[in-house]
Amino acid sequence: MLEKDIQEILFTEEQLKNRVGEIARQIESDYAGKEVMFIGILRGSFVFMADLCRAVELPCTLDFMSVSSYGSGTTSSGQIQIIKDLSEDITGRHVIVVEDILDSGNTLHYLLNILEHRHPASVRLCALLERRVKPVELHYSGFTIPDAFVVGYGLDYSEKYRNLPYIGILKPQVYGA
Ligand code: PRP
Repeated sequence: MLEKDIQEILFTEEQLKNRVGEIARQIESDYAGKEVMFIGILRGSFVFMADLCRAVELPCTLDFMSVSSYGSGTTSSGQIQIIKDLSEDITGRHVIVVEDILDSGNTLHYLLNILEHRHPASVRLCALLERRVKPVELHYSGFTIPDAFVVGYGLDYSEKYRNLPYIGILKPQVYGA
């Protein structure tokens, strides 16, 4: 039923699973002997976060933050607000911030600055997808994607399509282009 709104599948479930596994192996190697704290940025990261943390065979803790910059539209307003802060103290922790997508990079740039002031042992950034210009460098990046409106695997348009198991390009007529 949601499929009718999808123009093209960019990454299948299998491709996503394989790439998540590769990122997990990289994290295991980089953090061998350490405990990782994954910080998921709600809401888009929830599916990637769930799969990534289960693929990483290291002791880890999880926390979530919610920041908003987009509203219900398809482009960034540049305004970022903290909706929900972390529940845990990150002092001395090895933090990996987990995002579904780095678009303008504003969100991660802003978050990195905030988190570094809280004195973690280290902070790295992980995003499943990236596109466009970026004021921050990702330590872990799943795929670079074209400038198309993508949904699924946590990513939404007007809060829908997050439950698609794959990542697809939304038909422009759905968002009135
Ligand atoms: C999306 C995405 C990132 C951010 C990336 O969140 O999950 O947090 O935008 O964009 P940027 O690199 O241009 O800052 P959104 O505000 O759409 O909220 P959501 O995760 O609840 O869908």
